[in-house]
Amino acid sequence: MLTLTPGLSFLLRSSPILSLPFLTGALLARLGLPRWLSLSVGLLTLPALVAFLVVRRDWRNQRAATALGARLIPVVRGRSIASIDILKQMRYNRKYGYPADGLREAIDELGPTVNFRVLWMATNLTTAPEHIKLILATDFNNYVKGERFRYGMRGVLGTGVFNSDGDMWKFHRQITRPFFSRDRISHFDLFDRHADDVVSLLKRRTREGYSVDFQDLIGRFTMDSASEFLFDSCIHSLKAHIPYPHNIPASSLPPPPSDPTALAATRFTDAFTEAMLRISEREVLGRIWPLFEIMGDKTKPAMKVISEYLDPVIAAAVEKKRLGKVQDQTEEDRDGMSLLTEMLEQTDDPQVLKDEMLNMLLAGRDTTMHTLTVCVYFFTMYPDIYRRAREEMLAQVGPTRRPTYEDIKEMKFLRAVLNETMRLYPSVPFNIRENVEATTWPSPDPADPRPLYVPAGSKLAYSVFIMHRRKDLWGADAEEFDPDRFLDDRVKNTILKNTFQFLPFNAGPRICLGQQFAYNEMAFMLVRFMQAFAAVALDESAFAPGALPPDVWKSCAGRKGMERFRPKLHMTMSTQDGLWINVTEAT
Ligand code: HEM
Ligand SMILES: *[C@@H]1O[C@H](CO)[C@@H](O)[C@H](O)[C@H]1NC(C)=O
Ligand SMILES: *[C@@H]1O[C@H](CO)[C@@H](O)[C@H](O)[C@H]1NC(C)=O
Ligand SMILES: *[C@@H]1O[C@H](CO)[C@@H](O)[C@H](O)[C@H]1NC(C)=O
Repeated sequence: MLTLTPGLSFLLRSSPILSLPFLTGALLARLGLPRWLSLSVGLLTLPALVAFLVVRRDWRNQRAATALGARLIPVVRGRSIASIDILKQMRYNRKYGYPADGLREAIDELGPTVNFRVLWMATNLTTAPEHIKLILATDFNNYVKGERFRYGMRGVLGTGVFNSDGDMWKFHRQITRPFFSRDRISHFDLFDRHADDVVSLLKRRTREGYSVDFQDLIGRFTMDSASEFLFDSCIHSLKAHIPYPHNIPASSLPPPPSDPTALAATRFTDAFTEAMLRISEREVLGRIWPLFEIMGDKTKPAMKVISEYLDPVIAAAVEKKRLGKVQDQTEEDRDGMSLLTEMLEQTDDPQVLKDEMLNMLLAGRDTTMHTLTVCVYFFTMYPDIYRRAREEMLAQVGPTRRPTYEDIKEMKFLRAVLNETMRLYPSVPFNIRENVEATTWPSPDPADPRPLYVPAGSKLAYSVFIMHRRKDLWGADAEEFDPDRFLDDRVKNTILKNTFQFLPFNAGPRICLGQQFAYNEMAFMLVRFMQAFAAVALDESAFAPGALPPDVWKSCAGRKGMERFRPKLHMTMSTQDGLWINVTEAT
C-alpha cells in the first residue's frame, strides 16, 4: 500500500492555495502583461491573500466581541513579534533561555490572559485560575484537545486516552480507570524491587568514586515500575549500563554490559525517548510541521523499535487470554494483574492495546522522573529541607523498614516537599486545548469589566508553570522554594481559597489518572533514598560543558538567577543533560 509522507499529504491538501501565484501569473501573462510583471504580481497574491484573511478575521472577531459587550484578548506586541528577529530570538533562547522567558513579562504587563503570535503561530494563552477552571471543569464540553493536536501525536499515541476527544476518550478513560483503584496502586512490591536497584547502583558508583546522573537513573526506575505495572513485563532498564561523568577517560571505564536484556532495554528506552521528542517538536513547529517531514514520518524509525518490543508482549497476553488462563486466576492474582491483562476483558485489538500502553508510558514515566529529579535537586540546594524530611521519615518509618501506604499518608512534610517541587517545576508546564463554540471569559481586570471574547476554534494554551509563580496569587516570595507554604497559615489564602491555582495534575474530568500511583511511587522511592543516604550533593564538575546554567542567568531575578540546573521544555519538562549528584551513605 502506498502511503504519503506527512509532508506530501500536507502539500497536496494545500495545493489549491499554493498554486494561486502560478495561476495568477499565467493568467496575467495570457492577458498580455509583460512576463516579469505577471510573475511579480503572481508571487504577491499569496501574502496578499493571507493578509486579507487575517484582517477580515480580526474585523469579524472585533464585531462579534462588541455585539456581546466583550473585548478582544490583549495582544502581545513586541519588537520581536512577527519579525525576522524572532528566529534569532529562538536560537538565543535555545541556548540561554529559561521556561516562559518573555511570556511572563507580557503577562505582568497585560494581565494573565494574552494573545501572542510567533511567526505563523498564534495562541491565546491563559494563566488565570478562573479561565483554566472553565477549560478543565465547568465548561469542559466546550474544550477539546482538537484535531490539530491529535494529528501530530497520532503516529505515536494513536487514539489512546491522552490523544483522543469525545466518545473515543470516554471509552479509553472508562477501560483504564478501574485499574487505578486504591488496592492496585498500593501494591508496593514492585516499587521495592526497583528502588532497591536504584539504591545499590548509587552506592556502588559512589564507592567507586563516581557521581551519578540521578535523572537518568530515576528515569530507569520510573520506566521499569511503569512497564511492570502496565504490561507485566518489566523493561529492566536498571540492568543496563548507566552513564559515567563526561570527564572520565573511556579507557578507565569497565566495558558496558552486553547481556541481551540490558541491550533490549536500552534500545527500547532510547526509541521511546526519541518518539516523544519527535512529537513534541511537531507541537513546537505548529500547523506546518508536515513540511519538515516531506521525506518521511520522523517517528517511524523509533516506532519500529518500540513495536518490535511491544508487539510480542501484547501478542503473548492476547494468546494467554485466548487459552483461558486469565479467567482461572484467583482473586488475589487478579489484584496483581497488569493493565494490559485487565484491558483484555474489554478488547483484544492489538492496536488499541498498544496505543494505550504507549499513552500510559508517556503519562507515567517522564512526569515522575522529572518530579523526583527536581525534588532531589532541591535537597542538594537546601540541606535543611533534606534534614527535616529525613527526620520525619525516621520518626515514621525508621532506618530500614519498608514504608506502608499509611506511612506515606502520614508524612505531611514529604508531601509538602513534593507539592512545592511540582509548584515550581510542574511536569506539564504548558498545555493545549481548542474551544468548539465561541465563548467569553470573565474579565481578569477590575478596571475593565468587559469579558474577553474567545472565537470558536481558538488555539488555547494554559500554563500552570506561570500560574504557579504568580506573585499576586502566591505572595511576594512565590519564587522561593518553601514547602511550609503548604503547611502553615498561608494555605488559607492560596490552595484552600482556590484549588484551581495549584494544578500539577490537571483538574476536572481529565484529571491525571495516575495521581495517587505517582504519589505513592515517588514517596516510596524517596523514603528508600533517605534511609540509605545521610546527605546528597550536586557535583557540578560532572556536568558536561554547557549543561549548567549560563552565566547570563546569574543577574536575573527569581529562580532563573538562583538555579544550578537547566530546565528543558518538551511536552514534559526535564533537566538538560541530567543531574549529577553524589551521596553520603547513612551509618
Ligand atoms: C508526578 C507525576 C505526574 C504528573 C505531574 C502528571 C500530570 C498529568 C497532567 C497534567 C495530565 C493532564 C494532561 C492533559 O489532559 O493534557 C495528566 C493526565 C494523565 N495522567 Fe498523569 N501525571 C503524573 C503521573 C502519572 C502516572 C504515574 C500515570 C500512570 C501510570 C499517569 C496517567 C495519566 C493519564 C492516563 C492521563 C490522561 C487522562 C485523560 O486524558 O483522561 N500520570 N497527568
Ligand atoms: C498537596 O497538594 C494537594 C493538591 O494537589 C492537596 O490536596 C494537599 O493537601 C497538599 N498537601 C500538602 C501536605 O501540601
Ligand atoms: C484569540 O482571541 C482573539 C479574540 O479575543 C482572536 O482575535 C484571536 O484570533 C484568537 N487567537 C487564536 C489563535 O485563536
Ligand atoms: C561530591 O561532589 C563534590 C563537588 O564536586 C565534592 O566536593 C565532594 O568531595 C564529593 N563528595 C563525595 C562523597 O564524593
